[in-house]
Formats: sequence, structure tokens, C-alpha cells
Amino acid sequence: MRISKRVDRLAPSGIRAFFDLVLGMKDVISLGVGEPDFVTPWHVRARAIESLEQGFTSYTSNKGMVELRLAIAAFLKKHRKLDYDPEEEVLITVGVSEALDLAMRAILNPGEKVLVPEPSYVAYGPVVELAGGVPVFLKTTLDNGFKVTPQQIDAAAGRGVRAILLGYPCNPTGTSYSRKELEALARVIKKHDLLVISDELYDELTYDFEHTPMATLPGMKNRVIYLNGFSKSYAMTGFRIGYACGPADLVGAMTKIHQYTMLCASITGQMAAVQALKNAADDVAAMKKEYDRRRRFIVGALNDIGLTCHMPQGAFYAFPSIKISGENAMDFAKNLLMKQKVALVPGDAFGTGCSDHVRISYASSYDNLKEAVARIEKYLKKK
Ligand SMILES: Cc1ncc(COP(=O)(O)O)c(C=O)c1O
Repeated sequence: MRISKRVDRLAPSGIRAFFDLVLGMKDVISLGVGEPDFVTPWHVRARAIESLEQGFTSYTSNKGMVELRLAIAAFLKKHRKLDYDPEEEVLITVGVSEALDLAMRAILNPGEKVLVPEPSYVAYGPVVELAGGVPVFLKTTLDNGFKVTPQQIDAAAGRGVRAILLGYPCNPTGTSYSRKELEALARVIKKHDLLVISDELYDELTYDFEHTPMATLPGMKNRVIYLNGFSKSYAMTGFRIGYACGPADLVGAMTKIHQYTMLCASITGQMAAVQALKNAADDVAAMKKEYDRRRRFIVGALNDIGLTCHMPQGAFYAFPSIKISGENAMDFAKNLLMKQKVALVPGDAFGTGCSDHVRISYASSYDNLKEAVARIEKYLKKK
């Protein structure tokens, strides 16, 4: 066998497998992709172009450009009540994707476990496994808005469990947590002395209440690795800039891996990110307002046609139940694609117990969403 057992065991991404089907089909409305339909704000792109014209084409410090680390630390202090030392406690990464991988490799010894609420972002299980760890999935359901409970954590924690990997607002459910709910989770996390890898990439896209970073709760900062980045709220997926903040020993360990495997994030992306933090607040607010308008429309419309859907508190995904169709999510998604040319993602991509649900991204125009709902309704009626 030429491939390592660890990699061989890994299932290919369910999203990719499904979207291979979509390739080559015409007139498909795709609500499948997990990225903004907006392009990066012009002044951010302009700064990237200008930086190239000025000849900024080199490596940067392994930790990332000091200007960017300073800007991130200042932003987090002002807007998130988080206080991190830009020299020792902030690392610029190639998206949150790299930061997730580094965090797992930095903390896990072979066989150690990480709690992962499910449904979860497609990479969470694999990054734990690739680091030699074992993901322990905690199933959440529509009945309680897909929220993991302190009782679930309490029951699953114990021997060999080192951490919980929590993403909120959540991809694919849009679920987020109020401060009170996070405090209840934090109590049991502290009781079991767990680390938290807190993926808060969609924090800016929280609609109904203020986002609370896990690290701001009493007694939590020293056990949280806070992950964030520019991909979603700044519409900068292609720039590949994320960051990890946390206690110096953990960020230092992550930096060690990063300097050998990645060296640094691209200087063009880092230059653009500095500009985004300086000047893109209005752009972010405008995109958020539009996502919120679409959120209200799509959730109302899905419930109207019989696909029960909870109101997501954040991100840009709806996660309706397709139970009334009588099909599992994979069949529903394939048939809907073939018959009505609407692409969405079967829930199975996000966890084993999710075959009653599909993920619909509302990072697509209002008109597309309207047309998609009409086509889904037609599909359901013709069954
Ligand atoms: C929850 C979550 N975390 C991390 C990522 C990776 O984002 P990036 O590497 O672009 O920062 C995504 C992308 O879809 C995501 O949804």
C-alpha cells in the first residue's frame, strides 16, 4: 500500500463528491457553495494590486506581517473585548483551514480525543484524524436548534479527551450561542479541564444578538485557541488569510509547525487584510444586511413549502429538514438537481446523522433564492 493508513481511511469530502455531478450541467442554480457571492471590496483589491506594483512579493515573518498582527490585536481589543499580544499570541495563517490543522497537531498526542458537535464543518473530523487524534461526535438535532448541551459535553468528557472543537455561528446549521449558553458550556469545559478550539470565522455574520467570543468568558482565555479570518465576512476567500490567537505556549507550538510546513501566508493577502481591517467596516455591514434579508426570506419560504427550517442565528446557511419528501438527503439532492436544476448539499456531508437535512447557502442573489424555492416547490408537488 503506497498510501498511509491514516489518509487511506479518510473519506473524501461529501461536498466535492456531490458537486462533481453539478459540473458540466447548464442553468443550474447553485446554493451549494460556502462562499460569499460578493467580490472583495474594491479598495481592498486595489491595495493588493498596489502592493504588487510596489514590489511587495517576498516572504514575510513566519508569524505574519507585524502591521497585520498589530491591526488584528487592535481590532479584537476594540470590537471583541479580546486582549492578545501581537508578538507572542497572534499567528497569521493560510485561512482558518490551516489554523485548524495547526491547532490539532500542536495539542494532540496519538489517540487523544476531541469532542466535535455534529453536524459540523466538513474539515473538523479529518483535521483531528490527520493529527493522530480521534474525533468524538456529539449529535445535535433540529429540536433544540442544533445546539450542543453542557450535559452532552459532561457525559462525553473524561479519559483521553483533550479538547472541544466548536464552530459558531455553525457551518452548516447557522446555529450560534448566546452569552448565557456559552457560560453554561464553559462551566463544564472548565470542570473537565478541556481546551477549546473556537472557530469564530462567521462571528461578524451574527444577526439576532451580539457575538460573544468564548475566550472572553471568565477563566477561559488560557484554554481557548481563537480562530478567525477574512474569508467570509470580508468576502476574501481567495486571499487565504486567517489567524489564530491564544496563550503564547499554544500559539508558539502552532508557529513551530507553520514555519516548517507553510513558512508564511502570502504577502499580497496580508497587505489586503491590513486594508480590510482599516477600511472595510461599511462593506461588511452592507453585506451582512443583505445576507440577513435573504435569511429571513429563505427560512420563511422553506417553511411555507413544508421544509421545516429553524431560524439560523448566523453565517449564511439554512439547514432545512427534507423529511416530507420521503427521500434521504442524497437522493433528494440528486433528484432535485436532475429534475429542477437546483444544487444544494446533502446533510450527510456534515455528519453521519444528518441524512434528513440539506444545506442551502443563501450567499446567492435574492432572485436566485426565489427561483430556487419555486423549483423546489415544483419538485415536491410532482413527487
Ligand atoms: C466553519 C468554517 N471554518 C473554516 C473554514 C475555512 O475557511 P478559510 O480557510 O477560508 O478561512 C470554513 C470554510 O467554509 C468554514 O465554514
